[in-house]
Amino acid sequence: MQTTSPYMRTGASRITKRIQIKTILALMIGAVSVSAVGVTTADGEAIFTQRCAACHSIGGGRSVGPDLKGVHAKRAQDWLIQITKSAQSLVDSGDAEAKKLLDEYKMIMPDQNLSDAEVKAVLDYIASKGS
Ligand code: HEC
Repeated sequence: MQTTSPYMRTGASRITKRIQIKTILALMIGAVSVSAVGVTTADGEAIFTQRCAACHSIGGGRSVGPDLKGVHAKRAQDWLIQITKSAQSLVDSGDAEAKKLLDEYKMIMPDQNLSDAEVKAVLDYIASKGS
């Protein structure tokens, strides 16, 4: 004996489909809002031009500060985020590499009021220029 009629089955699969569509919609909305608040490599280029280019080149040699080409390959990302936000704090914490840079360049890099996401975008932009 059949207990479920073909109609019921169709009904059930319609509900499943509706749930799938809702899930897809929710994921799409989620993705759009993430990209709206996210910082992209294009922003990284703008930040670099406005906030870093006065003292740094990427592949153009030493300036007020070191040439940043390939810096992502030489240093850990956490360290790069820290020194970009506040070289002074890194020196104060006793970091040997940061002290070496200070000795070599005879000036401390001024603190940058940037979020981690903004710093990562700048670092991605620098990395996109090769190593
Ligand atoms: C006023 C000049 C100045 C500006 C503006 C500046 N920097 Fe620097 N930066 C320096 C100097 C000088 C050093 C080396 C001394 C030190 O580390 O404090 C340095 C060091 C660095 C280092 C370490 C490099 C290495 O070889 O390990 C990174 C990374 C860096 N800067 C990134 C940035 C980024 C990204 C920006 C823009 C958001 C920026 N800097 C803006 C002057 C500057």
